[in-house]
Amino acid sequence: MEGNGAELAVVLHDLHKSFGRQKVLNGIDLKIARGETLAVLGRSGTGKSILLKLIIGLQKSDSGSIRVHGKEISGLSLEELNQIRKKIGFLFQEAALYDSLSIEENVAFPLARNTRMSRAEQKDRVRQLLSSVGMENDLGKMPSQISGGMKKRVGLARALALEPDILLFDEPTAGLDPITAGEIEDLIVRLQEEREMTSIVVTHDLHGAKTISDRVALIHEGNILIEGTFDDLQKSEDPFVSQFLSQSS
Ligand SMILES: Nc1ncnc2c1ncn2[C@@H]1O[C@H](COP(=O)(O)OP(=O)(O)OP(=O)(O)O)[C@@H](O)[C@H]1O
Ligand SMILES: [Mg+2]
Repeated sequence: MEGNGAELAVVLHDLHKSFGRQKVLNGIDLKIARGETLAVLGRSGTGKSILLKLIIGLQKSDSGSIRVHGKEISGLSLEELNQIRKKIGFLFQEAALYDSLSIEENVAFPLARNTRMSRAEQKDRVRQLLSSVGMENDLGKMPSQISGGMKKRVGLARALALEPDILLFDEPTAGLDPITAGEIEDLIVRLQEEREMTSIVVTHDLHGAKTISDRVALIHEGNILIEGTFDDLQKSEDPFVSQFLSQSS
């Protein structure tokens, strides 16, 4: 995929990240086009969550380049980074809700902080967001009073609050029952169709990845071992790719 940057949402080049002596990412190259949904696969501990955190600047890379909508993010001030973060929704692997805030307040938080919406407008928007993930009946509950899957859905509503251009999902369907997982997948597909959202979805759910993504990338030993369509992966003769596909399905 060649590009002048305009049609590319995220470009990673030669990205390295270590923790102490442990090399986690060892020269990642990846391009995600605008409006594309990319699924990122890989075994546990291969650096998938770290990859997302680097893109949003929650972790700093050791070297390499990260461009978001053409803008290099390493070396930005916190203020500049915050401007970019407003355009990126992030659903954390553990949902990461604020424990002392209700479900409603959690989803309203980015609106209160980053928009001039009135209280009433915020309330309306929060209801709409929560109903899009089937959580409109639990507004007043605290995070400790809802299940893991419900937290995830609230986290997704919060990630969507500012109508981001790019969504980073870390295991959006893990721990959900198949019906709820299917609903979340439908939502991701709908966001792509209706809003031409760019999404990077880390998942270990191969079936889900196949349903929602245009392309998949498999991380192995710090690098992208293979990227392409699901068919490309299935045709691969690389022994690790075959093993990964057969043992995960
Ligand atoms: N803050 C940190 N300090 C030290 N090591 C870390 C830190 N964060 C992650 N790591 C290490 O980096 C590696 C990659 O972690 P990461 O969370 O990205 O894995 P993952 O691919 O998301 O795994 P999973 O599928 O289990 O979620 C792991 O070995 C982890 O222990
Ligand atoms: Mg992870």
